Amino acid sequence: MARYVVCKIEDFPASGRMLVEVNRRPVVIFRLGEEWFGLLNTCPHQGGSLFNGYQAGLAESDRPADYRYSRQGEIIRCPWHGWEFDIRTGRSRCRPDAVKVAQFALAVAGGKEIESLDDVKGVETFDVKPEGEYLLLSL
Ligand code: FES
Repeated sequence: MARYVVCKIEDFPASGRMLVEVNRRPVVIFRLGEEWFGLLNTCPHQGGSLFNGYQAGLAESDRPADYRYSRQGEIIRCPWHGWEFDIRTGRSRCRPDAVKVAQFALAVAGGKEIESLDDVKGVETFDVKPEGEYLLLSL
């Protein structure tokens, strides 16, 4: 396993999501507050782009006309046929034990720390500076 520098934290889009290609894998990165989540940008149904999906919350109900809405922005809905996935786990909302999008671990690291690591790739591409903060994806 290696870690890849994917961007400077300050360059992460305000939209809260970013599409990157890491080692030939398309990965959509979501920012939820100060937490980061990476999912393969390929819906397990028929390959739709989750990057282009609608980010919603979770609507739950125990009976008709009574529902709770929570976890705003933590569910991604595939734009092709509407399958929904939990951004935190990659699991399908309908069949969480059977359908899951591949996940990738992300971490924030300072440039000084990155310089001391020997399994980090992409350092040259991003011109890592000791004082900066960067997002690292494990693959
Ligand atoms: S391809 Fe994603 S729901 Fe069909």
